[in-house]
Amino acid sequence: MNQFFAELGRTVRAQWKQTNFSLAQFPSIARRAFEKRPPSKHVDVPALMREFLLDDAQPFQTQSGFGQPELIVFDDPRFYIQILFWLEGTTDIHQHKFSGAFHVLAGSSIHSRFVFEQAEPVTAHLRVGNLRMQETQLLPTGSTVEIISGSSQIHALFHLDSPSISVVIRTHSDPGTGPQFTYLPPHLAVDPFYNDALTTRRKQLLDVLERTHDDAYADLVAEMLRELDFERGLFILQNCLGHLRALDCWDECAEIFRKKHGRLADFAIPTLDEIVRRDGLVELRKSITEVEHRFFLALLLNVPTRRDILGMVTQRFSGPPEDTVMRWLEELAELSEFGAWILDAEIPLEDHEAIFAALRIFVYGKKGRPSAMSAADMKHLRDVLLLSSLRALLS
Ligand SMILES: [Fe+2]
Repeated sequence: MNQFFAELGRTVRAQWKQTNFSLAQFPSIARRAFEKRPPSKHVDVPALMREFLLDDAQPFQTQSGFGQPELIVFDDPRFYIQILFWLEGTTDIHQHKFSGAFHVLAGSSIHSRFVFEQAEPVTAHLRVGNLRMQETQLLPTGSTVEIISGSSQIHALFHLDSPSISVVIRTHSDPGTGPQFTYLPPHLAVDPFYNDALTTRRKQLLDVLERTHDDAYADLVAEMLRELDFERGLFILQNCLGHLRALDCWDECAEIFRKKHGRLADFAIPTLDEIVRRDGLVELRKSITEVEHRFFLALLLNVPTRRDILGMVTQRFSGPPEDTVMRWLEELAELSEFGAWILDAEIPLEDHEAIFAALRIFVYGKKGRPSAMSAADMKHLRDVLLLSSLRALLS
C-alpha cells in the first residue's frame, strides 16, 4: 500500500471525524488535504506504478470501468481515494452522486462548468432543458477542485496530455443526489446507468440489420418511431443516426419523430446533430498528432467563444494569441484548386489568400472584409464556418 496515500487517507478521516462526518464539510476537508500535501509534489508516479504491480498489499479494487484505469489507493467504509489515468481526451458532461475533491497529479486539463436551465423531467431517467456553459478554465498540474454532489455542479474535463492522471478523494455515494446525469448538449440529461433491456436488445437487433445491409432497415426504424414513446424513440434514433444518414433517410425519420413528439422533439433533434459534430471532432483529434494542434482542437470542442479561446492560448503560449491561432489555421489547412479544408470546414473559394485574409478578420475580431472578396463570398464563408468546429472563432 502506498504510504503517501495511506497517510493522506488517515488525515482526511481524522479531520472529517471532527465534524461528525458532515457531508457538507467533506469537499473542503478533501481540498485542504490536497493543498496541504499536494500529490503532484510528493508522489513519484513510476514508483507508485511499480509498487502497485509488485506489492500484493493493496486496498479493495472495484469493478469500475471509469478511468483508464482506476486504482484504489486508500479505502474506508465512508470514503476512498482513487487514482485515474486518462489516455483519451474527453469525459462526458456530468454531475456526481458523490462528493469530495480531485487533484491533477500529472498532465493538464480544460475544465468546463455548466448549468442546466428550465429542466423538465420526461421520465425518472431523462430530462430536457437548456445546457449553458458558465465558465472554462485551464487546470495545470497541481490544481485541486472540490466535487459537490447533485445538479449544482455539472462539469466536464478535457485532458490535454496523455496520460493525464488525477487523484480523487470521494465518498462512496451521497443519498438522494442521483441519478448521476450525463448531459448531452444543448438540451438533454440522461441517466447513464439506466438500462432498458428491451431497448438495448432492439438496438442490437437493428445493428444486425445494419451490418447485413438489410433493405428493411429504414422502414422498420420509421415504423418504430411512429409507435414508441419519446424516451425509447430517442434512444433508437441516437443508435441509428449514423446509418440513417448514410442511407439518406435521416431527415425523413427526424420528421416522423418531430410529428409524433412535437416540442419535445425540438430538444432532441439539435442534440443528436451536436452528437454527430462532437463525434467527428473527437475522431479528428485522434488523427492529429501535433501537440499544439490537439490543444487547438480541444479548445474548439470545449470553449464556446473567440475571447475565451484566445484567453486559453495566452495561458499556454507566448506572443499575441491571435498570431498563434492564425498559424495553427494555416498549418491545418489543406489547399486545393477548388478551395480549402480546415478541420471539418470545407471552404469552396478558390482565392486562398482572400480566405486567410478573411479568417484574420474573424480571429483578430475586426469588422469588414478583405478587398479581394465580394460581400456574397464573405457571407458564404461565414455560413460555412458557422456550421463547422471553427464557429467558436466567430462568436
Ligand atoms: Fe466529474
